Amino acid sequence: MLVRMPSIWHMHDERIVEYVHSILSKSPSILPSIEDDARQRDIPIVGPLIGRLLFLLVLAIRGRRILEIGTAVGYSTIWLGLAARKVKGRVTSIEIDPARADEARANIHTANLDDTVEVITGDALDVIPRLKGRFNLIFIDDSKDNYPRYFELCYPRLSKNGLLIADNALWHGEVLKDDSREGKAIARFNSMLISSMDALVLPVRDGIAIGIKGYRY
Ligand SMILES: C[S@@+](CC[C@H](N)C(=O)[O-])C[C@H]1O[C@@H](n2cnc3c(N)ncnc32)[C@H](O)[C@@H]1O
Repeated sequence: MLVRMPSIWHMHDERIVEYVHSILSKSPSILPSIEDDARQRDIPIVGPLIGRLLFLLVLAIRGRRILEIGTAVGYSTIWLGLAARKVKGRVTSIEIDPARADEARANIHTANLDDTVEVITGDALDVIPRLKGRFNLIFIDDSKDNYPRYFELCYPRLSKNGLLIADNALWHGEVLKDDSREGKAIARFNSMLISSMDALVLPVRDGIAIGIKGYRY
C-alpha cells in the first residue's frame, strides 16, 4: 500500500520557513553581524538554520576532528568551531580565495576561536591529500563541480561513525535537470553518498546531504 506523505513543498512554504527561523534563538558570538554583512555583500553562507544544525551535529557526535571545505568568510566555520571548542575538538577549514581566507581568520579571531580553528588557503583538491589522519565530521560547501571528487577524497578520510555533510544537495532543483553541469555533479555526489553510507538528502533550504560511515542496515 502506498503511504502518502505530506508534500515536501510544505517545508518550502514561506510562512513555514519564516516560522522555523523566528523560533531559533539568536545566533551566538559574532555570527549575527556576519549574517548582516553576508546579506549586504551577497556572500553565500549557510545561514542560521544549517549553521545550528552543524553545531548540533558536532556536539551530538562529540566531534574532535572536523574538516570544512569552503570557508568563505568563516560563518559556518565559526558554528563548527563553537561546538568543537565545547568538546575540546579542532576545525580545519580550506578556502581557495586568499582575501576571503584572511577575512575568515579575522572573524575567527573576533570569535575567540584562534586556538580551535585553522584556515588553510589553497585549492581543497590539493590540500586534502596533504592533511594527516581521519576526521569525525567533514562538511563540503564549495565548488559544486568538485563534489564527486570530494566524495572520493573524503570518504576514506572519515573515521568510523564519521559524518559526511554537504550543502546545496538540491542546487535550486538543478539536480533534476540533465542539462545542468553542476546539478549533474551534485546528483552524482548524492548517489555516491547514498550507495556507500547510511545517508539521506534533507529538503531543507537548498538541500543538505548527511551520511554516516560504518553503519548499514
Ligand atoms: C558557498 S561558499 C562557503 C560558505 C561557507 N561554508 C559558509 O556557509 O559560511 C564557497 C566557498 O568555497 C570556496 N572555494 C571554491 N572552490 C574551492 C576549492 N577548490 N578549494 C577551496 N575553496 C574553494 C569559494 O571561494 C567560496 O568562498
